[in-house]
Amino acid sequence: MSYYKIQNLEHYFKMYKKSVREPKKFWDKIADENFVWYQKWDKVFDVNMQEAQFKWFLDAKVNITKNCIDRHLARRGDKTAIIFEPNNPEEEALHISYNELYKRVSKMANVLREQGVKKGDRVCIYLPMIPELAVAVLACARIGAIHSVIFAGFSASAVAARIQDCECSMVITSDGGYRGEKTINLKGIIDEALEKCPTVEKVLMVKRTHETVPMKDGRDIWLQPLLDNALDNNVAEIMDAEDPLFILYTSGSTGKPKGMLHTTAGYMVYTGYTFKNVFNYEENDIFWCTADIGWITGHSYILYGPLLNGATTVIFEGVPSYPDFSRFWEVIEKHNVTQFYTAPTAIRALAKENLDYVQRFPLSSLKVIGSVGEPINEEAWHWYNDHVGGKRCPLVDTWWQTETGGIMISPIPFVTPTKPTYASLPLPGIQPVLMDELRNEIEGNQVTGSLCIKFPWPSIARTIWGDHQRYKETYFTAFPGKYFTGDGALRDEVGYYRITGRVDDVVIVSGHNLGTAPIEDAINEHPAVAESAIVGFPHDIKGNALYGFIILKEVGESRDRNNLAKEINQLVSDQIGPIAKLDKIQFVSGLPKTRSGKIMRRILRKIAEGDFSNFGDISTLLNPEIVDEIKDNRV
Ligand code: WTA
Repeated sequence: MSYYKIQNLEHYFKMYKKSVREPKKFWDKIADENFVWYQKWDKVFDVNMQEAQFKWFLDAKVNITKNCIDRHLARRGDKTAIIFEPNNPEEEALHISYNELYKRVSKMANVLREQGVKKGDRVCIYLPMIPELAVAVLACARIGAIHSVIFAGFSASAVAARIQDCECSMVITSDGGYRGEKTINLKGIIDEALEKCPTVEKVLMVKRTHETVPMKDGRDIWLQPLLDNALDNNVAEIMDAEDPLFILYTSGSTGKPKGMLHTTAGYMVYTGYTFKNVFNYEENDIFWCTADIGWITGHSYILYGPLLNGATTVIFEGVPSYPDFSRFWEVIEKHNVTQFYTAPTAIRALAKENLDYVQRFPLSSLKVIGSVGEPINEEAWHWYNDHVGGKRCPLVDTWWQTETGGIMISPIPFVTPTKPTYASLPLPGIQPVLMDELRNEIEGNQVTGSLCIKFPWPSIARTIWGDHQRYKETYFTAFPGKYFTGDGALRDEVGYYRITGRVDDVVIVSGHNLGTAPIEDAINEHPAVAESAIVGFPHDIKGNALYGFIILKEVGESRDRNNLAKEINQLVSDQIGPIAKLDKIQFVSGLPKTRSGKIMRRILRKIAEGDFSNFGDISTLLNPEIVDEIKDNRV
């Protein structure tokens, strides 16, 4: 039986056992039989959890784009690789074949090389969800440049911090982008960001909105004329298995964003393998993941995973609410989508609207539906399962992270029975464990604990760009010898996992990870603010929203509170992005603190949630009286 495609539950258990007992043999076979290599590996892996050192497919030579594009040309040259569905439904959808994708990526790769980009250079990509985004990402991989895609919703200072951190030499952006009824001026944001980024020498400009934008002489260049003059074939760079493929920033609970580094071969093997199995991918399927390519979900399951399997993948520029709330379902019908992969926050938002928006569409092309990014609550699970999946499409609740590169815990459709709100079982090669507060592994079922992974897998992030020490400390010290996910989980009576949420100071708002510390830093820059503490609280649609407790300085005391709140949110929006705005702001005279000065966020979380039932022992606080004041003035 094939190792690559899991056929039934018995086969799954067999493969799972093999992956644990003989991981070298397991991954050797998958890598060998399903990918093309210039040169195979000497050793499958060399790993050390204590030191956070991971090497997979040692000394193998490969280029991921040869696997995503070139190898499909003989058999699938005319097959559609990418369907582009524009924001405006009146604008025609584009079908880009594998042949055409090869040409586009080759041209772009040639342009990058002509413009001086070399193997190992970092290229920042700040583009809307248009085909050029996919092409730019693949072109970087083609020539061995490290792509750093930044979600085109981040503000100038967030963009600047990311560009500075990995010292990009080039930015690829556009005049602007469309999102629903809005037009976003991306170039304006880049211009502002680049005032603080001396490493950037060139900005390649894609035309999307055709608005007039200022062009800086010697730095900014329109891309199209360069592409028109470039050759449409390109010899791929020969990459070592462990050469960096990309950096993608994710929020930490403290400090600046972490540039997670993924390398070539392990990431390729794992995303290819998981795409095939988690979505039950078959040759003529049309796969649609609604994430943005600016997030890991888009990297792994809009681009790399599908293309590695020669699939047709949909790139959607718009939003679920434009022109109305039936857009997702319309697009599924229009393109005969077979697998649909989205986030709980989108499901909750759509479930709030009239059922007619979805019921008008038979959605009979669908075969598998998926969820990712945050825990999916019971109600949303059923709505999605009933009204989108028609109770006949398995719903795969896929748990994973930017750091893991690919899906880790998920049902396999038509193999693993699903259970509402459960991500269910680990994929082959993944060994989850639950840990208690004393750092002991919790055995048995019907238990909860901190979710760790006790053995490496091919696509584990290799480091935080420029800060290996931080990588080690963040993920490998809380539970020595294990990878700590930052999530809590429950294991039920049959061994199914349910992810209960973050156990650190990261709040997931509408599926976007936000560290509370950087938001507090932004707020504290306001001249009237003395101190602040941000916590998450449950929100019907966003999953979580942010609640800020803010202490004012004397200069702020006399000011109008509404105006202050507006200014504070503007500051957050400017520094981090509109997504990080606070839903609620409460001005307080103090914050509950321990004697060592640490803010007791646990209490603030309970107040924000409106749960005053049990604050636990507050007698050890420096200022226990503040709890009542805050509680009584909750907004
Ligand atoms: C959360 C997204 C519950 C979790 C791929 C994780 C989930 C964080 C699920 C990573 C899920 C992701 N059920 N929680 N199915 N999927 N999460 O890095 O808290 O953007 O640690 O990667 O999202 O978010 P990230």
